[in-house]
Amino acid sequence: MERLTVKTPTKRDYDIVIDVSFDALNDELKRLEYCGRKALIVTDSIVGPIYLDTIKDKLSQCDITSFDFTITAGESSKTKDNSDAILERLTELEFKRSDICVALGGGVVGDLAGYAVSQYRRGLPFIQIPTTLLAMCDSSVGGKNGVDYNRIKNVYGTFYFPTLVYMNTSTLTTLDERQFYNGFAEAMKSAIIKDEHYYEWLIDSMYEICDRDPEALTELVYRSVNIKRLVVEKDPYEDGDRALLNFGHTLGHAIESYKMGELVHGECVALGMVAAAHISYKKEMISLEEYLELRDMLVPFNLPITVENIDIDEIIRRVSFDKKQDQTGLKFILLKKIGKAVIDRSVTVDEMREALKEIEYTESND
Ligand SMILES: NC(=O)c1ccc[n+]([C@@H]2O[C@H](COP(=O)([O-])OP(=O)(O)OC[C@H]3O[C@@H](n4cnc5c(N)ncnc54)[C@H](O)[C@@H]3O)[C@@H](O)[C@H]2O)c1
Ligand SMILES: [Zn+2]
Repeated sequence: MERLTVKTPTKRDYDIVIDVSFDALNDELKRLEYCGRKALIVTDSIVGPIYLDTIKDKLSQCDITSFDFTITAGESSKTKDNSDAILERLTELEFKRSDICVALGGGVVGDLAGYAVSQYRRGLPFIQIPTTLLAMCDSSVGGKNGVDYNRIKNVYGTFYFPTLVYMNTSTLTTLDERQFYNGFAEAMKSAIIKDEHYYEWLIDSMYEICDRDPEALTELVYRSVNIKRLVVEKDPYEDGDRALLNFGHTLGHAIESYKMGELVHGECVALGMVAAAHISYKKEMISLEEYLELRDMLVPFNLPITVENIDIDEIIRRVSFDKKQDQTGLKFILLKKIGKAVIDRSVTVDEMREALKEIEYTESND
């Protein structure tokens, strides 16, 4: 078992427990003195049937009476309506400020439950039990939440910190292949921006990771979360260094929106990382060998390094709508080396175009 403590600006620090089972959950609930309270478990239609009973058992062993609220699995459930429905449920059940909310599922459930619960009586104790690799490595850490409206992602959102994040890496064995590597892209990203030793470990542990060995995944999640923790502790409200976490995301988001659901987020981040590494190489910040290695190391993890049927100008047009553009120019995250990312404001449209050409699938770059 691994444990990390995340410091928050609210001074209410929280622990992240990373384990290969749910066995230690009860001890955590007792430590937080949650026994005897009520809990609303928010989950989805895929995760609920697999893990809800186990979690309910764990809660009842601590004399916690649980209720559940199940959404249809998928991003289309991350709505204000569902958040309002959770708030109504909490009201009907007469939840007090000391009662708790548990998010059991991927990033959709975590973002939705966090958003709702931050508003109920100005915030209930909130436990995240992330069950996707993306939610473990990324969305359950850092306190951001939100819901979508009118196809605008996360347009309503708050910062609200959990009281506990409990990750059981054995739950990743039931995740479908595409979702697994979707989250892996964020793990790879954290290594590339901050920690070359972790990057090397990922490459060396390729077989164990792809086999989803829970012990290897515990190490992977621990190291990714630790990087995200250090970045968010330094910059909790996203004014500065937290931007480094957007490595691969500037062009990645633009490709994701252009492809309208055809590619998952992590696949677009992988493409965005290749493009950003290419720009770093062209600016003579990294060598050709480093660029090629970084690109080719995504392939064994089932991540794409080229993309078909893209309109490069349209993708660049979408970049300019990205929130990372402020008065001082587009904030682009580039690499000084594998393990060290920097914020750069000098990337030109031509450089982006050239990088997109590099990842555009043609017979010759296959
Ligand atoms: N708050 C943040 O800082 C932050 C950061 C990154 C992403 N996000 C958000 O996270 C969301 C994406 O999260 P996600 O990729 O986890 O998606 P998700 O929650 O939709 O989960 C993906 C799919 O996997 C299923 N699933 C989850 N756990 C499973 C398991 N153990 N076994 C089998 N199936 C399982 C889900 O039912 C769903 O169908 C997006 O809405 C995104 O905006 C938030
Ligand atoms: Zn991401």
